Amino acid sequence: MDQNELKALVGQEAVKYIQDGMIVGLGTGSTVRYMVDALGKRVQEEGLKIVGVTTSNRTTAQAEGLGITIKDLNDVDHIDLCIDGADEIDTDFNGIKGGGGALLWEKIVNNASTKRMWIVDESKMVPRIGNFGVPVEVIPFGAQHVFNYFEKQGYHPEWRMTDGEKYRTDEHNLIIDLKVGEIADPKALAEDLIHTVGVVEHGLFLNRVDTVIVGRQNGPEVLQ
Ligand code: 5RP
Repeated sequence: MDQNELKALVGQEAVKYIQDGMIVGLGTGSTVRYMVDALGKRVQEEGLKIVGVTTSNRTTAQAEGLGITIKDLNDVDHIDLCIDGADEIDTDFNGIKGGGGALLWEKIVNNASTKRMWIVDESKMVPRIGNFGVPVEVIPFGAQHVFNYFEKQGYHPEWRMTDGEKYRTDEHNLIIDLKVGEIADPKALAEDLIHTVGVVEHGLFLNRVDTVIVGRQNGPEVLQ
């Protein structure tokens, strides 16, 4: 199986955990795309009744196109299960997210969820997180000063770009990717980032997942 087939495999596996009546957090990214496709199929073919709360405008458009009912996070009092992708996960379930630029809404939805599940192909499982880089969402006002601070800290910042322009998130913020390499102390880095004025959120997701489904050549592996 190639990487896309492994992503499809875990996407299809994850929707088996969704039951009638649930409020489900729908993540963002190419792996989640397969999951939302499979969920749409269950809604259409089985008449499964669920409410989705999405983590990006992209996921909203896909889910609504498939007939999945979507509500604003402000209009639900909880989320039963959030299913999202990840860019890297270590053996202690520390994760990096935000490769797709949706880390802020993803962390807010993750935070509001009773159960949290990540679905990944096996290439995302690493001994230590960091080589992917750490996406950091920053307010545009004065963002160059945040960038300069990261440079002084030795975090090797790079602006996220798209079509020659600085990438804009769904909240119209900017993303700085920190090319830090393997992180010795993710908690210490997370503390520094969240206390930097101008930072809205960062892509270090520490202690934020209960179940990981890994797409392996011999089938999906469920880790808890
Ligand atoms: C988006 C994310 C994604 O979940 C992460 O980038 C994984 O994406 P993909 O499934 O396309 O590899 O955090 O902000």
